[in-house]
Amino acid sequence: MSNIEKALEKAAKEHKRFDGETVEPVLPYVAESFDENKVDEHIVSYYDSIGRQTWTRTVPVMESFRRLRLKIRNVFETNSYKTFAFVSASQGEGKSTTTLNVAITLTQDINCRVVVLDADLRRPAIHRFLGLRPRKGLANLLNNETDVGSVVMETFIPRLSILPAGDKPRNTCELLTSKKMGEIVATLKSQFDFVIIDTPPVLAFSETVPVCRLADGVIFVIEANHTKKRPVKRSLELLQDCNVLGFVLNKEEIASSDYYGHIYKTNY
Ligand SMILES: Nc1ncnc2c1ncn2[C@@H]1O[C@H](COP(=O)(O)OP(=O)(O)OP(=O)(O)O)[C@@H](O)[C@H]1O
Ligand SMILES: [Mg+2]
Repeated sequence: MSNIEKALEKAAKEHKRFDGETVEPVLPYVAESFDENKVDEHIVSYYDSIGRQTWTRTVPVMESFRRLRLKIRNVFETNSYKTFAFVSASQGEGKSTTTLNVAITLTQDINCRVVVLDADLRRPAIHRFLGLRPRKGLANLLNNETDVGSVVMETFIPRLSILPAGDKPRNTCELLTSKKMGEIVATLKSQFDFVIIDTPPVLAFSETVPVCRLADGVIFVIEANHTKKRPVKRSLELLQDCNVLGFVLNKEEIASSDYYGHIYKTNY
């Protein structure tokens, strides 16, 4: 093999990170087939990127996600935060939808590679929202059945990879609180510009708080006109040693410009 061929092969293997460092990729596998029509209609950042609008209201929802992206970029630049967990007090408040929309919006920055880690092993949604059927995932990795390179999945969205939840385990809490979980997050952190973590509801399951501790920052999702004050207060008490950065007010009618330390609103 000539020097040029060797250099080309090396370049193909390497990836220049957002922060300028070059890393050897974990070699994520690519989905064999996908059906664009199976992407959930609420993944508006994807539909926006292909010029299709799946939402009806006039509120500029994409602008809200772009503002949130800016806030995330700011904390990356000022504090080197790279891992963000999205949480909510209870079920169905929009954690997974927001996680994925934010991750996709981040990938729309040139050279920004993002991995979404589905740490909701009980009700995983990330692969489903993208219409993907992964082979294995985080649970299998935590059970030492496979290696990182075999479960990180490159998606059809440029620069977006996912580490899906994998086969449903019986010992969810033990797996997610194991030392290995920290090692996996560290590996992803070294490979990608941002690691965005989807989590189970804080009040329902004890593993959420330890997972949030692994993130540089935690973003709390509140469902407008639904989430009550008390569960939010209780969740924030449980998350007291986690770095809660701010709130996303999901399914809200009005778009506001502020999020960090205030409330960020999105509706579609
Ligand atoms: N802004 C929104 N506007 C309209 N529908 C939404 C919005 N956000 C989420 N949804 C819908 O609400 C439902 C719950 O959303 P999602 O699965 O993201 O919540 P979750 O908090 O991750 O739930 P779980 O606790 O079960 O993991 C889904 O059907 C989703 O499509
Ligand atoms: Mg979810």
